[in-house]
Amino acid sequence: MIKIAPSILAADFANLERDISRVSSADYIHVDVMDGIFVPNITVGIPVVESIRKVTELPLDVHLMIDRPVRFVEHFCDAGADIVTVHVEADTEENIRKALELIRSHGKRAGVALRPKTSERAVLPILDKCDLVLVMTVEPGFGGQTFMPEMMSKLQLLQVWSRQWGLNQELEVDGGIDPVTCKTVIESGANVLVAGSSIYSAEDIPFRIRQLRGK
Ligand code: DX5
Ligand code: ZN
Repeated sequence: MIKIAPSILAADFANLERDISRVSSADYIHVDVMDGIFVPNITVGIPVVESIRKVTELPLDVHLMIDRPVRFVEHFCDAGADIVTVHVEADTEENIRKALELIRSHGKRAGVALRPKTSERAVLPILDKCDLVLVMTVEPGFGGQTFMPEMMSKLQLLQVWSRQWGLNQELEVDGGIDPVTCKTVIESGANVLVAGSSIYSAEDIPFRIRQLRGK
């Protein structure tokens, strides 16, 4: 089954509750957390996750684009995140492993994300610690960028490894996903699709969510 995770980065932050209710037919709510250091942009943090938790039953998929995430993962778990994803480039391998263990010890699902330039090999040492692998299909930091089809080989390899190891992880893609590119990523093995602009710019949001499922 293909899951859709609308990114609230493309929502109206002054009307977040309304914009979250508009995507109630989706599977997750994707929250992009940026610190202005790991990426050249700043978005929202722990209090916003706490507030969103109160207005939706959907699982919260929190994508941390922050430096040394091990410092904050427990706060995001306590704030109500269901999936917490950290970037493999954001700290040493030891600290990333520690962050993933902390997330799981809070009963939440742990994810690891890869920037476009990062090889899939970077996740090998920690693959058994993650419940989800996020392949960025744009450079993290901003919504509305162009999809990078060259990431598909990364996705395919990760799917093979995950199956070989019997890990049964979710494979998520993020950036430039629309009714055309969704087909490419689904064919390459993705089963969780993040989409910001293509969902929130749609006239008929429930229809767009159905389209992104590739049907
Ligand atoms: C980018 C974020 C994405 C972003 C995707 O750094 O991680 O989640 O919101 O936006 P679109 O779907 O517009 O490419
Ligand atoms: Zn994201």
